[in-house]
Amino acid sequence: MNRLFSLTLSLLLLLASTGCVGRAAPAEPDTQRFSSQTVSSAPPPALPETPEKKAEEEPEQPEEPEVVEEPQVPEAPYVRVVDPSKPMVALTFDDGPHAVYSDMILDVLEEHHAVATFFEVGRNIAACPEVLPRMEELGCEIGSHSNAHRNLSKLKKSSLLKDLDAADAAFTAAVGYAPALVRPPYGAVNKTVKYASERTMITWTVDTLDWKSKDAQTVVDYLQNYGDLDGEIVLMHSIYESTAQAVAVLVPWLQEQGYQLVTVTELMAYYYGELPQPNQFYGYTYFTTHGRTDTPVQLPSGEQAPAAEAAPAQGAGAVPVQGTDAPAAPVQETSAAAAPPAANEQPPVQAVEAEQAVPPAWLFPPAEAAA
Ligand code: NI
Repeated sequence: MNRLFSLTLSLLLLLASTGCVGRAAPAEPDTQRFSSQTVSSAPPPALPETPEKKAEEEPEQPEEPEVVEEPQVPEAPYVRVVDPSKPMVALTFDDGPHAVYSDMILDVLEEHHAVATFFEVGRNIAACPEVLPRMEELGCEIGSHSNAHRNLSKLKKSSLLKDLDAADAAFTAAVGYAPALVRPPYGAVNKTVKYASERTMITWTVDTLDWKSKDAQTVVDYLQNYGDLDGEIVLMHSIYESTAQAVAVLVPWLQEQGYQLVTVTELMAYYYGELPQPNQFYGYTYFTTHGRTDTPVQLPSGEQAPAAEAAPAQGAGAVPVQGTDAPAAPVQETSAAAAPPAANEQPPVQAVEAEQAVPPAWLFPPAEAAA
């Protein structure tokens, strides 16, 4: 009896145990079902919508081919305008042309509808014959920097004229004329160079020393901290990548400051009120003893738009200056010609008579590179 009870108890325990397992088993699926219901009842995730949005946008892309038709609207030729009453500065570049960096500088000028003056070495021109015509096309001024970058003050007059004539021949071959302006290498002059070269000799007023630092940021910092650049002629060199990089920053910056970027001859005419004359020397003394003129001079015909269209359009005597095929409607060069930039009372005095820059050896035969 006792054994029967024990057997019955064991059987009951076994059944109870099996029942528990049988009940516990569905518990997990229940949990999973609940869990999955929770997910499915949640707000729809954002992710699936993205492809739908993209799918909606894609059909609109066929509009793009229509954009191709836009070139039907001819872009009006740009007409640069110089207002003599507003700040202006002349950027100048010596020692080129350079097969790479001249074009980098011209790219920047073209993008910003700006111009500069390039004093080129005659014997460098043949190596990159396409550069000078592009300068001409963009309205830049081309000047001579002699033929061989010698110290002109050490040449006899006959040798001086021979060198300048050789340079003129190279310029004429490239663009069809000889430049009116000559910048003497190193800024080195004597009385013969100044007053008997049969050319106009002109130097600069602000030396960036770009040849020395060969660092774009140094050049940028120098000009941005210079003070008033109105009426200044800035010296740089078109044979350094660092200078080309600095120009990419400085050109838009100068325009944002309200400066008009003009050629040297434009600066002479519109700021100093004088057209450069042959057998004359325009150096630091000239520029620092002459201020802004009250009577701007018109450039000779051929260097500006027809006078009839030029005259009173801008009220203050603004003068359109680019090309003879300029259309009637002039466009202001500077977007917002603000008040003249904050200025130092006097620009720092700088030595001008001696340009220390030594041209890189690759430009000239070794025998002359040291000159
Ligand atoms: Ni030079």
